[in-house]
Amino acid sequence: MENIVQISELEFSYATSKQPAIREINLNIKKGEYVVVAGLSGCGKSTFCRCINGLIPHFYRSGVMKGSVIVDGLDTREHPLYEITQKVGMVFQDPESQLMSLTVERDIAFGPENLGLPREEIRARVEEALELTKIQHLRERAPHELSGGEQQCVAIASVLALQPKILVLDEPTANLDPVSAVDILNIIENLRAQKKITVIIVEHRLELVLQNATRFLIIHDGELVFDDKPEKLIATNITPDETYGVQIPSLVRLFMQLINEGIPIQQIPLNVPQAASVILKELGLIRSSSE
Ligand SMILES: Nc1ncnc2c1ncn2[C@@H]1O[C@H](COP(=O)(O)OP(=O)(O)O)[C@@H](O)[C@H]1O
Ligand SMILES: [Mg+2]
Repeated sequence: MENIVQISELEFSYATSKQPAIREINLNIKKGEYVVVAGLSGCGKSTFCRCINGLIPHFYRSGVMKGSVIVDGLDTREHPLYEITQKVGMVFQDPESQLMSLTVERDIAFGPENLGLPREEIRARVEEALELTKIQHLRERAPHELSGGEQQCVAIASVLALQPKILVLDEPTANLDPVSAVDILNIIENLRAQKKITVIIVEHRLELVLQNATRFLIIHDGELVFDDKPEKLIATNITPDETYGVQIPSLVRLFMQLINEGIPIQQIPLNVPQAASVILKELGLIRSSSE
């Protein structure tokens, strides 16, 4: 399958620091992947996102970028930001910073209007974005009056109206309550399933995202220290909680522990139904008749 993101020998240093914020990053991401990125605060996750969406090098001009990033065939260094924005949609932790119009509908139309698209096309894109994020009922509302979760939906809808092939989300649920966080993550998973959008998400609530992830990245001190399927965590012999500040879900830790103790489990379950199936089938346990 086609690599939609190609990163080679990537290194970036901010002007204010001698130490690179990220370095030696080599990574190819295939179309339709769901990539979860984790790591300690300050390890370089946001910098990594900025390299994919073109803010680096175009906005952070005084820093030094080495290596290359190619998104859907565009070398980010050689193409202007507005071209990259049509390939890579970016959603941040704080949705308010992305919203500026008087109504939700106007906000979502803003990007396509800036592209100078025909009115009918703009209308169709706004409708589709409202539908994909399930916020048709909010179309006339003022974004600044909405809840954090609703605002994040509007921010995602605004980005979707540009029809990006890649969606990069930098801690999109960090400021949300648990229920809104689940809603947002469900919307994102649906986008990938329905629209085949490639998702790259920095997220701490691993118990909610690892089950959807095709790939799990851990960044430590600017370097990529884990890059594999989430089920492969066990093979690395690392203790992510202690070493990399990554909160591996308790369910996953439980099965890692069982495997370490010699229980022959082939694959780590990433959610409760999978875990139940592993216990019942692989371990040969049978429900007692009293249940
Ligand atoms: N705009 C910036 N200017 C200067 N240094 C920055 C900037 N943003 C991040 N850094 C530094 O780069 C390193 C990585 O930060 P960041 O990518 O924000 O990490 P994370 O998102 O994982 O918390 C940190 O040392 C941070 O202080
Ligand atoms: Mg960050």
